[in-house]
Amino acid sequence: MDKVSSFFLRKPDSFSGLMSRKSEVYLPITSKPQPKFRVRALLGHCLYRRVVLWTLIVIVLLSVTLFNPRITQRHNVLDLVHVGVGEVAESKAEQTGDLSLTKQDGKNDADERPMKLDEEHNDDEQSENKSESTSEDKEREKKKKEKGKDKQKEKEQAKEKEKEKLNGPHWLRYKHLDGYYNGLRSLVSFSDYIPEYPVALDASQPTVVVPTVHRTALPTPTVYRSHPDYDSSEYRSEYQKVKPCYLDAKRKVPVPELYAYSGVPQGQAKPALGSYDLLGLREDVCFDRFGRYGPYGLGYPVSEGGTGEATDTEHEASEYVWQKTGKINWDDMDWAAAQDRCTQDNEARFFTGNKTRDSEIAKVRPRKIHRQAVVVRTYVGFKWTAHALLNFRAMISELNLQSSGEYDVHFLLHVRDNNAPIWADPATAQRILDANVPPEFHGICTLWSEAQMKLYYPGDFGYTFENPSNGDIHGVYRSAHMPLQHFANIHPEYEHFWNWEMDMRWSGSYYELFDRLGKWGQQQSRQGMWERASKYYIPELHGDWDNFTKIVDKETRTSGRRSIMGPVIFAGKTSLQHGEEGFLPRTCATGSDMKLCGVGEDADLITLNPLFDADQSGWVFASDVTGYDKQYQQPPRRCAIVTASRLSRRLLSVMHEETWRLHHSMFSEMFPPSMAFHHGLKAVYAPHPVYLDRAWPVDEIEKAFNGGRDHTSGGHGSPFDLMNEHNHKGTSWYYNSEFAGLLWRRWLGYAQMDGRGDNGGRAGEGTMRGGRDEEMDKKNSGRLCLRSMLVHPIKWENPSERD
Ligand SMILES: *[C@@H]1O[C@H](CO)[C@@H](O)[C@H](O)[C@H]1NC(C)=O
Ligand SMILES: *[C@@H]1O[C@H](CO)[C@@H](O)[C@H](O)[C@H]1NC(C)=O
Ligand SMILES: *[C@@H]1O[C@H](CO)[C@@H](O)[C@H](O)[C@H]1NC(C)=O
Repeated sequence: MDKVSSFFLRKPDSFSGLMSRKSEVYLPITSKPQPKFRVRALLGHCLYRRVVLWTLIVIVLLSVTLFNPRITQRHNVLDLVHVGVGEVAESKAEQTGDLSLTKQDGKNDADERPMKLDEEHNDDEQSENKSESTSEDKEREKKKKEKGKDKQKEKEQAKEKEKEKLNGPHWLRYKHLDGYYNGLRSLVSFSDYIPEYPVALDASQPTVVVPTVHRTALPTPTVYRSHPDYDSSEYRSEYQKVKPCYLDAKRKVPVPELYAYSGVPQGQAKPALGSYDLLGLREDVCFDRFGRYGPYGLGYPVSEGGTGEATDTEHEASEYVWQKTGKINWDDMDWAAAQDRCTQDNEARFFTGNKTRDSEIAKVRPRKIHRQAVVVRTYVGFKWTAHALLNFRAMISELNLQSSGEYDVHFLLHVRDNNAPIWADPATAQRILDANVPPEFHGICTLWSEAQMKLYYPGDFGYTFENPSNGDIHGVYRSAHMPLQHFANIHPEYEHFWNWEMDMRWSGSYYELFDRLGKWGQQQSRQGMWERASKYYIPELHGDWDNFTKIVDKETRTSGRRSIMGPVIFAGKTSLQHGEEGFLPRTCATGSDMKLCGVGEDADLITLNPLFDADQSGWVFASDVTGYDKQYQQPPRRCAIVTASRLSRRLLSVMHEETWRLHHSMFSEMFPPSMAFHHGLKAVYAPHPVYLDRAWPVDEIEKAFNGGRDHTSGGHGSPFDLMNEHNHKGTSWYYNSEFAGLLWRRWLGYAQMDGRGDNGGRAGEGTMRGGRDEEMDKKNSGRLCLRSMLVHPIKWENPSERD
């Protein structure tokens, strides 16, 4: 495939013509190809149908659970794993009908959508407002009919309903935070910064920080670098020499740099979940849209080689970011050629992926480093926009060119037409690229199809415990890992692979994000690793990471469960061909200080949400488990929602073997964590900063987000339960977030409905705020400046993209 994809390289020509059109059409096709009718469409796309269907499934499952004595008396899977010493009594209590019923009623704002890959849901955040009320009513009606005869229960439920009527669904109960929208004219140095939120438990109200608009002139941004200082003597004595990279073949045009402001707008909230400091991310600087994207073509017109985006937004003093490099003309950019040049110029810095060769050079000094790939999942029919271009230009520049080849960015392009001869006929492949990907990225696309996965992973996958989506086992929806496994096999040069998606954005430097997460993962101990990873980290409540570690240890002891260490054993487990002995590092040998076990070892899996126990979690796809002997319980499972994560070559090769040899699979979000769990690989949840749109009391965050078994996010009561997931809608990072898009678009300079309507307010409600006029008004604090943060899902950016 890699040969083939370089074959597709071609000069961007007709494309610049398209780009100059005002309508920002980036691709020749304007309408999505009509997919063939599939059963999944019945289940997937229409909210209303999904709701009815899921309700039915929940009802059937509940009745089976309640009235089938065999199931209610079954033992917890972990019981067989020999790790769940004290849990039998507890799991019995969980499995009584009472708790199941509690789950069934109550939270009337449940997000009816099952977790799905973003590729499959392009629905608009705001349109759900309308359909939701009807579907909620229907759902409640159904549930009412279903409800048992237990009068006492009915009363309790009525009481709960009454309470919810008064207070609204959990996440809608609290006051909206305002400080996110404070702009550059309220910027203060980090030492003077007072966040409006989070506040200590004993303070009942958020700190009200009225942003003083204390600046008349805007502050000046400075170049922001998150890469090591490659010219420093420390770096040069430890690592191989680094050669700078350029955008063009003549090595004349330097890679532009991003710009940041020192400080933070006064009052802006701090993240409620996760931490900058812990991960080594800077929190004392913020980015505006020009400092972030100006270097890559935002803020200047198509006629000058930019995208034309944001020229119609407030832009006072934005010229600063082009002073050094000028406005770069991006018309003829060829990213594949630039990445390849950069990597070849720096070949001597890296391990090669050839095992023999790498063991020869392992002891070479100065040291060599491993290369990593960021694999962005895209698909035929994806609507490329100017902002998508900007995002990936930034990603490639920061990860590959500015790091002199440490990372490569690739697109894994899903071709939905299984009959397209994408390997046999280069012209077919080129046609698909022309119609679906901007020319500047053609050379870094790898095409794949489900037909290919059927061929690559043939044979009978056997029994599936549950298949709620009714999808094919080789389909991207249920087995998105398959093409990634294949990709790893054809790219031995990379040691780690970030699985990434099109609708994610990071407001800071991509190098800082990926580098710091990798380094943090490496420093984590394996002792208590799975237990810490199962819980959201709330610094305001839990204290620092040592405090958090102690809290988790204590909760684990109280639960009566033993901490997981190394591979787990369960009924029906099949060994790998070469065993698992090699997976624990020397630091974990008997007699070692177990605190240091795994410290210094690269994480095999880094996720961006907790790794929760899927068993009894209420997560829709928790039992989408295939290929295991059905005479046993389902194997123990871990899962992290949102597939963005880093997987090591070692983990991917374990997954590959489990797929081709044992015909095992699990739903996409569950398979990699579960494979790491079964085989004793190192897995961490990196608690990156996640913001909340409302002033939740911190103990309520704990109740809602760590409301699962034993104060974790897994098991019964999980926040990923279909009935609880709606609490994520006010976070900046979750597939159903309403806040992420609102905040992101305000930051980009577009007026947005502020979501402050009646009954708590939802996306698309309230009044129009922000945008050009408001930001230009000198009475206000100006354009937004945000710290580095991940936002997801971003389904559209410029309001003109909405239709
Ligand atoms: C959402 O619902 C409210 C109240 O039912 C209505 O006033 C508002 O116009 C709706 N918004 C959208 C975007 O449908
Ligand atoms: C791997 O490296 C060894 C030793 O440098 C070399 O002899 C061999 O040809 C290489 N293999 C491949 C496939 O390039
Ligand atoms: C964290 O631990 C330190 C030292 O053990 C202790 O003084 C502090 O009170 C703890 N903080 C919290 C929030 O538990």
